[in-house]
Amino acid sequence: MLKFVIVLSVVSYVLAAPTSEGLQPQLDGRIVGGVATTISSFPWQISLQFSGSHSCGGSVYSENIIVTAAHCLSDYPPLSAIRVRAGSTYWNSGGILSQVAAFKIHELYGQDGMSNDIAIIRLAAPLKFSSTIKPIPLAVTAPPDGAVAVVTGWGTKRSGSQTLPTQLQAVNLDVVSSETCGSDIYGYGEGISDTMICAYTTGKDSCQGDSGGPMVSGGVLVGVVSWGAGCAFPNFPGVYADVAALHTWVENNAKTI
Ligand code: ARG
Repeated sequence: MLKFVIVLSVVSYVLAAPTSEGLQPQLDGRIVGGVATTISSFPWQISLQFSGSHSCGGSVYSENIIVTAAHCLSDYPPLSAIRVRAGSTYWNSGGILSQVAAFKIHELYGQDGMSNDIAIIRLAAPLKFSSTIKPIPLAVTAPPDGAVAVVTGWGTKRSGSQTLPTQLQAVNLDVVSSETCGSDIYGYGEGISDTMICAYTTGKDSCQGDSGGPMVSGGVLVGVVSWGAGCAFPNFPGVYADVAALHTWVENNAKTI
């Protein structure tokens, strides 16, 4: 796992040096290359916070279950330091700030690179659904290559930035299937497993702080923001946990957590 992160950082470094043109699109967007939006358009989006700071995104699955990325929770933050803000356009104010009763990381996460990067959180008290808080159904079949998807979050606007936008951002991306993403069309090769799905559009991507958040296509959750080499780097799509491959795990564990 650590080795993997180092390899990715090296890839990012090597890419960052000579391809300044390729880096340009990162400079003019949010998420990367997106637009500011409001929670009413994406009412399943939540902000996962540790000790008062936005850390990751997530999606409302039911009135008390949130879906996020395993790597967002794998450092085992104390439960008492975790909060979920739902129903707000801004990560740092508004909506409702909930405490967390439990979380569960996919049992196979950490065994094979970033495979199975999914986790669920049980809230201490159920959410009240409204125009700004609504669940999103899970995909049961993966969208095909070229399907249009939208990714939302409060992540950085460009690779390497330390600053998070306070207003929710959205970006439209083209889905890249697991097979295509691992092919030699793109740069990852064997780093892509069958619990991953990708999305790629020149100059647009999710980025640090978007992890755990939703990629939605056709009205269902098709991906959970997971990893990438930098953000919006040419030939390196954003990589997402493949919800169609992992939905049974979410459904079963949501009943027992
Ligand atoms: N791992 C990042 C996070 O924790 C998300 C990175 C997504 N990267 C990308 N190029 N799409 O927030």
